[in-house]
Amino acid sequence: VTVFVPRDAAALAVGADKVAASIEHEANARNLDVTIVRNGTRGLLWLEVLVEVRTEHGRVAYGPVKPSDVAGLFDAGFLSGADHPLCHGLTKEIPYLKNQTRLTFARCGITDPLSLDDYKHYQGLTGLTKAIAMSSADIVKQVTDSGLRGRGGAGFPTGVKWKTVADAKADQKYIVCNADEGDSGTFADRMIMEGDPFVLIEGMAIAAIAVGASKGYIYTRSEYPHAIAVMQDAIKIARREGILGASVMGSAYAFDMEVRAGAGAYVCGEETSLLNSLEGKRGVVRAKPPLPALEGLFGKPTVVNNVMSLASVPVIMDRGAQFYRDFGVGRSHGTIPIQLAGNLKHGGLYETAFGLTLGALIHDIGGGTISGRPVKAVQVGGPLGAYFPPSLFDTVFDYEAFTAAGGLIGHAGVVVFDDSVDMLKQARFAMEFCAVESCGKCTPCRIGSTRGVETVDRIAQGVEPEKNKALLEDLCNTMKFGSLCALGGFTPYPVMSAMTHFPDDFAPTTPLVE
Ligand code: NAI
Ligand code: SF4
Repeated sequence: VTVFVPRDAAALAVGADKVAASIEHEANARNLDVTIVRNGTRGLLWLEVLVEVRTEHGRVAYGPVKPSDVAGLFDAGFLSGADHPLCHGLTKEIPYLKNQTRLTFARCGITDPLSLDDYKHYQGLTGLTKAIAMSSADIVKQVTDSGLRGRGGAGFPTGVKWKTVADAKADQKYIVCNADEGDSGTFADRMIMEGDPFVLIEGMAIAAIAVGASKGYIYTRSEYPHAIAVMQDAIKIARREGILGASVMGSAYAFDMEVRAGAGAYVCGEETSLLNSLEGKRGVVRAKPPLPALEGLFGKPTVVNNVMSLASVPVIMDRGAQFYRDFGVGRSHGTIPIQLAGNLKHGGLYETAFGLTLGALIHDIGGGTISGRPVKAVQVGGPLGAYFPPSLFDTVFDYEAFTAAGGLIGHAGVVVFDDSVDMLKQARFAMEFCAVESCGKCTPCRIGSTRGVETVDRIAQGVEPEKNKALLEDLCNTMKFGSLCALGGFTPYPVMSAMTHFPDDFAPTTPLVE
């Protein structure tokens, strides 16, 4: 019997290794033949450790399983998919999973992340095989026609970026994968690297063929040790199997890659500061222009794409531009892996076509707050994203709709707060975060964020509140329009949305901020 126990960091954090050891121990003690496969997570994080058993009807899910539950599961006959209080029936029928449209995460949780046979069995490498047979211009056209936009946050058309690099003349070009996933509540990049690393390798190899690059780097965070280890192992396997190296799958293209870990600065997720860090320099933002597409890593034309953008490319090459483009709404095509986090019953990864409302995501899919208290605010797009009040929950997940509502989708992290949150403290936190993480290159961000903390404190203390609120707004405008990069430029979003939508929390009666 095959039993699946995830090896993803989210599952390890709640004892997956111990659960796997207990299953092995119990099986040996009972003289049962059990093969344990360490898969990626399915992304139903409140059910971790989610153990699955392969049966003749499909895989049956049990969770959340603790080591102390294992003997009882054996007693109940879980190896044949028997019922048990922790049983959720067939995994693929669990509504949270069944209602998703998994294109980028199609294999995640199903396969053994480091089994190339599994990868190929579930359509892996078909996109790359098709790309090798196409001209570079046709690959770029297919990605452009698919409507794929940068999933790191800015939503810039991926095909247009690739074309800029493809058209640039240079002796060396690079593919840089931005895996410095720093936004609050986000984990999609990590989940793909730990759960389906070959899809990222395949996406980067396709990008390399499209633009004429021969070297790639995955820049990730040192806080992601499991992702780093899985990616490194997958790269070794890909090299050994001829997917990477002097001849990519027997073609005339050469491409190889390596993983680099940053030292843990939020600003190193900004592409130019990432490139500096990759070059061994301090992670300070560079002025644009020149665009990295023309003068990027070591001054050479460079594609800098987020993990999600690159991991979405294989399915686009495999199924075609139109297939991908037909999902979504307006100018937001395809699917978006939304990460539901914070005070929510059903936190996890939810990949869906663009177009769901924020309210549906929080209440119908996320199940409302885990505390049982009413939702007060939702921050979308990381620490630089706006706070949405329930009155804006009809906002549709779509780049343009979020911009129109004064927010941003960013990397699609959704963090939920109940009515115990103090929005003035959240505004202060945004300014403080910016002050701590600022690279220091430009004045509005470096100085403005510290003045921002002081101004919020004065509002909290009731010192000339109206004058200080006007001052805070003025400061936010200076930061928004005068900062060199998104860190200083977007910090006003959480601050201003907190002040606009939750004015009561900025009333002078609010207690002193510690
Ligand atoms: P941007 O709008 O300046 O650029 C977007 C991308 O398009 C960049 O890669 C840029 O080089 C490229 N680009 C622009 N014009 C181009 C052209 N003509 N040809 C080729 N390439 C071109 O945005 P930026 O500053 O790179 O990113 C800001 C976003 O980052 C924010 O929207 C925010 O949501 C997101 N963000 C994401 C985080 C994460 O953890 N994933 C953390 C913080 C912010
Ligand atoms: Fe650096 Fe902040 Fe200016 Fe960005 S906005 S360049 S992080 S000082």
